[in-house]
This record gives sequence, C-alpha cells and structure tokens, in this order.
Amino acid sequence: MPRTHILALDQGTTSSRAIVFDHEGRQVAVSQKEYPQIFPQPGQVEHDPLAIWASQWSTAVDAMGKADLEPQDIAAIGIANQRETTLVWDRDSGKPVYNAIVWQDRRTAGECARLRAEGLDQLFAERTGLRLDPYFSGTKIRWILENVEGARAKADAGKLMFGTVDSWLLWRLTGRTVHATDATNASRTLIYDIHRGDWDDELLGILGIPRSMLPEVKDSSGIFGESQEGIPIAGIAGDQQAALFGQGCFSPGMAKNTYGTGCFMLMNTGWEAVASTNNLLTTVAWRIGGKTEYALEGSVFMGGAVVKWLRDDLQLIRTAEECEQVAATVADSGGLYFVPAFTGLGAPHWDPYARGAVFGMTRGTKRAHFCRAALESIAFQSAELAGCMVKDSGIPLKRLLVDGGAARSDLLMQFQADLLGVEVMRPKEVETTATGAAWLAGLAVGFWTSREELLKHQEAGKEFHPSRPGEDMSRMMDGWNRAVERSKGWADD
Ligand code: G3P
Repeated sequence: MPRTHILALDQGTTSSRAIVFDHEGRQVAVSQKEYPQIFPQPGQVEHDPLAIWASQWSTAVDAMGKADLEPQDIAAIGIANQRETTLVWDRDSGKPVYNAIVWQDRRTAGECARLRAEGLDQLFAERTGLRLDPYFSGTKIRWILENVEGARAKADAGKLMFGTVDSWLLWRLTGRTVHATDATNASRTLIYDIHRGDWDDELLGILGIPRSMLPEVKDSSGIFGESQEGIPIAGIAGDQQAALFGQGCFSPGMAKNTYGTGCFMLMNTGWEAVASTNNLLTTVAWRIGGKTEYALEGSVFMGGAVVKWLRDDLQLIRTAEECEQVAATVADSGGLYFVPAFTGLGAPHWDPYARGAVFGMTRGTKRAHFCRAALESIAFQSAELAGCMVKDSGIPLKRLLVDGGAARSDLLMQFQADLLGVEVMRPKEVETTATGAAWLAGLAVGFWTSREELLKHQEAGKEFHPSRPGEDMSRMMDGWNRAVERSKGWADD
C-alpha cells in the first residue's frame, strides 16, 4: 500500500501542533495543545521538556486518529520548532538535567554584556550571523553547565547531550538513538559557523561548551532517522525558516512575516550570507542537498503573545478573538502606545533590559483602546523590521506575505498594510510553518518531487490594501518610536 500522507509537527513556544497533509498539500487533520509556561523569576522563561514531548506526541496521535490513519499511511514526518530554546539531557538516563531555557529568557544578559565588553561581539557576528544577546542558545548552555550541580563534570566526561527542541523530539521519536539537528536550528545557537557549516571550536572554547554534547548537523530536507513506528523523519527546520519555505519564498528578495508568539520577518538572500548593517541577523534559510541558502531576519519577541497576556494574565478578554472584536469598537487607540517589551527588545533595538510599558493613558482610556494598542504594537514592531530589511537588502518592499495565528486578525493585517503603505497578502492557510515542515519532509522521500510542484499547492487568501493617509501613519510611527525609547534600560541585571 502506498503511503498517502505527511505528518508535520509544529512545536511552538506556547503550544504543540500536529497537522496531517495529503498529496495535494491539503491539511486533512489538525490537533493542537497548549502546555504550561514556567516563569521562575522576572525575565526568565522555562518549559518542562517532558511536557513538550508529551504535548507533541499526544497531538500527533490525535491528528492521525482524526484523519483515520495508521503509521504505515505516513510517508514521512517533518518537524518545525521554536528555535534557540535550550535543552540538556543525560546521555545514559535520558533525563533532562534542567528545564528547557526558552528563547525569551533573559537570564544571561549579564554574561552577554561581559562578552561584549571583552570585544567579542564582532567575532560572534562574523561567524554566526548573530549577536551577543541572551536570545540565542550558547550562553544558555553555559548557564546550565555552570549552575546545575554536577553538570559541568558530566559534560566534560561526555555524558550530556545538548539539543534545541527539534533534537529533543528527534531523539525521543527515534527511541533515543539519533542525536542530530538541521542547519537552520544550528544557526541559532551562537556556536555554529554559518559559512563553513560546522560547529566552531573557538566559540565553543569561549563559552566553555564541550563538542561532545553537540548534535550532528544535517540537511533540512533528508532522512534523519526512523520513528519507532517505522516512519522516516525526513525534514527539520526552525519554525521561522519552515514558514519561509512554506510560503514558497524560494527566490532571493522574497520575504514573509510570521505572527506567532513573537514576530519574525525573514527575507531569502539566496547563496549569499548578507551581513546586516541595520541590526538584523544573518541566518541559514535551509540546507538542501548539502547546499546552504541564507536569509536576513528581524526577530520581535512579543507578537501574538501580547494577546495571550491580555487574556491569561490581565484577564481583560476571554478569548483571543475577543481582542479584535473589542478593539474594533474604537476608531483608534486614543493615543495609547503599548510597548510589549516583557522579555526585552529584539531587532532592531537589542535591549535585554527593556521592559513592557504603556504610554498615553488618560481618563478617557478604555479597555477597547488597550486591546487596540496591543494589536497595533504587533504591527509597529513588524514595520520597524520591514524598514531595516529594505535598507539592508536595497530591495523596496512591494508587498508583505504574512502567516501565523495572529495573522488571522483582519484588523491587525489592515493596520499593518496602512502602516507599511504596501499590500499585505495572507494565504488561505495561515499555518505555513507546518506546511514548510511537511514540504521539506515530503521532498526528501519523493512524496513530492520539486519546489514547482509544491507552489501549485498554494492557495491565496485575503489581500489588505493601504487605506489611510501616509502622514497619519508616520505620525503614529513617531509616537511609537518615542514610546520604545522610553521603555529601554528599565530592568536591572
Ligand atoms: O526564535 C523563536 C521562534 O522560533 C519562536 O517561534 O512560533 O513559537 O513564536 P513561535
């Protein structure tokens, strides 16, 4: 019997998702599960590695059940994952030695400042395309080795394994036999030379990380191993790179913005690793057939998570959809600016000490203005990224391809188009991260044969055209810029 479907696992920051695709690229079953966020101290974010695994596994079983499929119906599994999040586990027992330290976690801000003071910023940037910021895995690995009892000695004895979330899932799926990652995930660790395509011994030495802990780096599309049920795991990419692939951004100059927990704008730059002069990152887009393609990236740490915070913590709304409904009851934010720097600011500001702030409240400020300002903050931050991207690439932005859960908000997408003054194009299916993972896996096993074939599966959704005067929007952007400046440098080390 031919294998008829692809299973994509999308392990995100706040939820795990599994989506089953048929040969025409249609999503035939979806399962999603949120899992707990752990906040041990202000600025720290952790996940329980076993909760990541359990939630991901249960969604896979659930999605296959909904599609009425057995393991022998699945041609391949593709994995897309939250990037940078750092796990270390014991090679023999398989037990994590500490919680996963999430990409949003700022605990190594001081360590990064110290390394910068030693003048190492340039070296790390040249080799890795990244910056000395706590966002990336390198200083998180070092923190675990230095702060978890016995970890350093075990690591030196070759008894510990490091992985980003993809490696952790792969290792579990393969019955603890395969310790590998792909080039996109490796490119987010601060210890991987994106030009040579290998872990960098000098950077490992600076951070005190033994090479024996590291996974083997493989192509993003290719066989990584077999699950215990006999399904090839044939595609792995960081979720943002997977979304770039799933949006069909195969040619240099094509860009997308994903509105997930954070917002991540990536532009394909082809075979060339373009160094940013506007505070963006240079990263691996994917490695296929041993050849690496690159991207420029702008990373914003709080995107759709703002709405989740309004719902779960502030309890201003009951559902994410309610945010848009309430926001739509007012014509504007009433002069309110909400800077969601809860975990510092990413591109282009890179300030781990910035914190969330609200400016412009008056006696007339209502819940609706708050909801609107929260949604607008997502668009303001994305507009800043787009500005940097245009300066770095020299390519004017003609339109913006969007995806991710928060891209479902018409109000947000319309405001984004107004702010950028270009059209915003949303595909019918906004979960392009899973699509990218499925495509990478499907190509590797011959389920699909070419990128051209994949592009035929794309379905257009809705277009948003700029509809407000440019002067109004630049006045609002000025207000945003002032608010951002005031949120900087707030937290202590
Ligand atoms: O770099 C972090 C990013 O991969 C997280 O993605 O989809 O969980 O917001 P997401």
